[in-house]
Amino acid sequence: MTENVETNNNPNQVHPSFANVIKRKESIKNNLSSIKHRIGIYSAKGGVGKTTTAINIAYTLNKKGFKVGLLDADIDCPNLTVFLGITDMMDIEHIPLVPLVKDGIKIASTAMLVDDTKKPIIWRGPIIVKMLYDFFENTTWGDLDYLIIDLPPGTSDAPLTIMQVLDMDGFIIITTEQKVGALNSVRSGLMAKRLSKSIIGVIANMTKENKHNEHINYVCASLGTELLGNIPFDKDIEDMSNGSDVAVLNNQKIYELYSNIVEKIIG
Ligand SMILES: Nc1ncnc2c1ncn2[C@@H]1O[C@H](COP(=O)(O)OP(=O)(O)OP(=O)(O)O)[C@@H](O)[C@H]1O
Ligand SMILES: [Mg+2]
Repeated sequence: MTENVETNNNPNQVHPSFANVIKRKESIKNNLSSIKHRIGIYSAKGGVGKTTTAINIAYTLNKKGFKVGLLDADIDCPNLTVFLGITDMMDIEHIPLVPLVKDGIKIASTAMLVDDTKKPIIWRGPIIVKMLYDFFENTTWGDLDYLIIDLPPGTSDAPLTIMQVLDMDGFIIITTEQKVGALNSVRSGLMAKRLSKSIIGVIANMTKENKHNEHINYVCASLGTELLGNIPFDKDIEDMSNGSDVAVLNNQKIYELYSNIVEKIIG
């Protein structure tokens, strides 16, 4: 038998374990069918600003009148709730899970499921993947214009699962001006391309130069994609990670920077 799960979508004509994978993909597709667009915010490099970007883009879309969901796909090190000052929990007895709503945005994170943020979440790949499936398959996202997914660093279980299982519009690659950020951003983008996923563009974050920096140019050229915008290193953006207000809500200049990026994304 040469046909595999990628080429044959009829569960009756493949090995039972493949059939199961196909059925689950179908079930995920059904559960997410009322979401018009799914966008991943990604870099294999830690600390480049994926969570910061995901939140500011989600809030900018929301400010422009779109219905938005925000999924924290950093399953074992969830940070999104810290940025947003969320301490409420989701009801784990209630299946399907219901995202919490903050400022009109539907938000789901493992941090809303584990009872103590001071405890480490020590889970192997299969449990991380199972948790992701629960967010895709057993969570009531309802009607959304955009689901923004904040990916974890690395190129293993979580990014791989998202790329293999979800029907994504594409990924926004975050880079910094430094060589190490750029190299890992290229690695992330090439992973997405290898799995036949689109790259929407690159955001250069925490920039200190106003002009195009050579490492940012290298990322765009290597991935054959455009620079959506530069986000400078800014105190109001940084303070979000200490629980201050979302930068695009309290700083008009920052809102305009993200707004220009979002116009390119929705365009
Ligand atoms: N443009 C910016 N200006 C100032 N500080 C920023 C900016 N972008 C991100 N930061 C800060 O950098 C730190 C890392 O950001 P963030 O957590 O968003 O990165 P990440 O890529 O999601 O990290 P991880 O890989 O751990 O998930 C945070 O303290 C954040 O406030
Ligand atoms: Mg993060």
